[in-house]
Amino acid sequence: MDATADFAAVFHTRARHHRSIRRYRPDPVPEYVLRRVLETGIRASSAGNMQAYSIVVTREPARRQDLLAPHFGQRMVVEAPVLLTFCSDFHRMRRWVALSEAPDSFGDAFAFLVGAIDAVIVAQNVALAAEAEGYGICYLGTTLASCRDIGRLLGLPRNVVPVTGLVMGVPDEEPPLRDRLPYEALVHHETYDDPDDDALLALYREREQAGWARYLADPELRRTVEAAGVRNLAQLYTTVKYTRELHRRVTGALLDYLREQDFLPEP
Ligand SMILES: Cc1cc2nc3c(=O)[nH]c(=O)nc-3n(C[C@H](O)[C@H](O)[C@H](O)COP(=O)(O)O)c2cc1C
Repeated sequence: MDATADFAAVFHTRARHHRSIRRYRPDPVPEYVLRRVLETGIRASSAGNMQAYSIVVTREPARRQDLLAPHFGQRMVVEAPVLLTFCSDFHRMRRWVALSEAPDSFGDAFAFLVGAIDAVIVAQNVALAAEAEGYGICYLGTTLASCRDIGRLLGLPRNVVPVTGLVMGVPDEEPPLRDRLPYEALVHHETYDDPDDDALLALYREREQAGWARYLADPELRRTVEAAGVRNLAQLYTTVKYTRELHRRVTGALLDYLREQDFLPEP
């Protein structure tokens, strides 16, 4: 019992210490450590235990250089020694189904999402395992945004689509903990508790102050904010970071790629 409590205390402390790391030392991640991290990662729960995902490990500097542009030039892709790409993968399962003379049900969007959820759950297990080893990680949302280019560079067959990525390496920074919305904003008891407008704005107040101050403190981000003429954090989100145009473009590209990868049957 005491050992359980000790483990829980250490685990909670470590997990609550999480921060995304974007600057890395060139030190390599030993193969046995990466293997241990990935083996822990793949113990994650999986829908129907189909394990409809694959993880592509990219260590080769030249290949990471090729992946830099699809990852929108994020330097950590080439500076961290390990890049992991987590893919929704029904290719393997469908081949097994065909070889076993079983009917195939998996060429659709539901299958893509089942595999994507598996992939993301494994990614977070890997992230926690890597952090437990003292390494830093950062997710790469650009994996989904550039799924077709990344899929091509990684040689993914049909029915495999990259959904998220992680870089991993020895941290070369110790950024402050990022804010989170209050517990009450995120956790509902029994039924959904939709706050009125004032209560909702109050839930975002701390985020607004912390997030806005962070942008203004960084000279480059401040210039972006001033150039865009935005006055608050919500405006920054939807006029600079996550514009409607970006969302439309990425959604269109994603749907095209899902069709190409046989995850969207013709109607
Ligand atoms: C799915 C996902 C995609 C992300 N993509 C990126 C990314 O492309 N670049 C980046 O610098 N951070 C990325 N992040 C990290 C978030 O910005 C970060 O988790 C958030 O700001 C909270 O900060 P923290 O992780 O340090 O607590 C991503 C996080 C998630 C979960």
